[in-house]
Amino acid sequence: MYQDAVKVPIGEWAKPRFKSMTEKDFIRSVSGTNSKFGRNVSNWLNRKKVYPHNVLDFEKEHYIEPPTLIHFATECSNRNHSAVSPIELHSWFIKLFTQKGDIVLDPFIGIGTTALGAMLANRMYIGIELLPVHIKEAEKNIKELEKVIS
Ligand SMILES: C[S@@+](CC[C@H](N)C(=O)[O-])C[C@H]1O[C@@H](n2cnc3c(N)ncnc32)[C@H](O)[C@@H]1O
Repeated sequence: MYQDAVKVPIGEWAKPRFKSMTEKDFIRSVSGTNSKFGRNVSNWLNRKKVYPHNVLDFEKEHYIEPPTLIHFATECSNRNHSAVSPIELHSWFIKLFTQKGDIVLDPFIGIGTTALGAMLANRMYIGIELLPVHIKEAEKNIKELEKVIS
């Protein structure tokens, strides 16, 4: 895995938070919701970069550049496929697991979202899709993105 490729700056909140540490911050405290999730706040001390708290939040990464931080829904409408996922989510995992120039294989590529994510992350791609209608849409999407990034 290439964690550094997907980590983000820890953020301004860290400075005041780490200024006043208590004893509790140095032991693992378990969530009061019985979820069994726990955390040791001191693990974040001196960290400059961390995983994003939500991989559907992106800053200036979308190829139609947003002005500032944006949040993507987990489902997309108007993209001519009932189970399509956000391009940035694909890019995020592609960056985490591959390096520039690698080939990404998606055996169920639908309308080509993985190919688009691979293109944005400078990877090559191979996509397999059963339905001609989705293949057509994937080819259209790939051509459109090629125009935008070339
Ligand atoms: C969940 S969708 C993937 C959607 C894709 N992530 C996207 O964003 O467009 C799964 C896709 O796999 C395709 N599929 C199902 N069985 C398949 C098979 N045996 N070979 C290739 N594609 C298949 C379906 O037609 C569908 O488009």
